[in-house]
Amino acid sequence: MSAEATLVTAQHFAYLAQRTRTDDAFLLDLKSAASALGIPKIWVCPEQASFLQILLRLSGAETVVEVGTLAGYSAIAMARALPKGGKVISLELLEKHARFAREWVAKSDVADRVEVRLGDARKLLPAIPTASADAAFLDADKSGYPEYLAQSLRIVRKGGLIMVDNAFAFGELFAAHPKDPDTPAVRSFNDLMARTKELQSVIVPLGDGVWVGVKIAEPAA
Ligand code: SAH
Ligand code: DHB
Ligand code: MG
Repeated sequence: MSAEATLVTAQHFAYLAQRTRTDDAFLLDLKSAASALGIPKIWVCPEQASFLQILLRLSGAETVVEVGTLAGYSAIAMARALPKGGKVISLELLEKHARFAREWVAKSDVADRVEVRLGDARKLLPAIPTASADAAFLDADKSGYPEYLAQSLRIVRKGGLIMVDNAFAFGELFAAHPKDPDTPAVRSFNDLMARTKELQSVIVPLGDGVWVGVKIAEPAA
């Protein structure tokens, strides 16, 4: 038995996706309605949503801060993994997205567990109290990730989770000439995560790569 990892291929991704609990009718309807309005289909994939739910359940999270609501797909998915009285506070820059998400949250089974806040996360995160959340999920503009990480390290309690989407830079992590201007930002953020001593973290190869970090120490004041 070698210590080498198995090379995961598209076939493996399809295989595991076929064996993971997928969207219910409500989330499928949400995605169709969002697409019909021209909202980009950049929500996390179902197996990633399932993984986030597993992490939240395992950690007993009650309060989650999300950066980047889009249509509310991941917010609703995460809220479903919280106990009664739990809360996802989800931050969204664009009014079109926030309005859509609020409308769909309101008719979801977790209407009382998701709060969408409209505005720039750079402005909204500083207003969230220190050590007030059990988990954070970062999934907005990649150039903002370093700032969102610093804020999350303050907002999430010790022992809590910090999860970050798109570690594989939309598939362009190793591209010589990436088309997406955010790719360099993702690369440097990944290096920042790797040297963030306050977290024990690892990239999990689901979807476009998701960082999972556990806060093991308080950031230096
Ligand atoms: N988490 C969602 C997908 C988020 S897509 C899901 O999986 O269902 C990224 C979202 O971040 C977009 O809606 C975009 O408008 C939003 N966004 C971009 N910059 C932002 C900022 N500075 N503050 C808050 N939201 C931002
Ligand atoms: C994009 C953003 C995301 O968060 C994602 O998961 C996929 C794509 C984008 O900006 O293109
Ligand atoms: Mg993403």
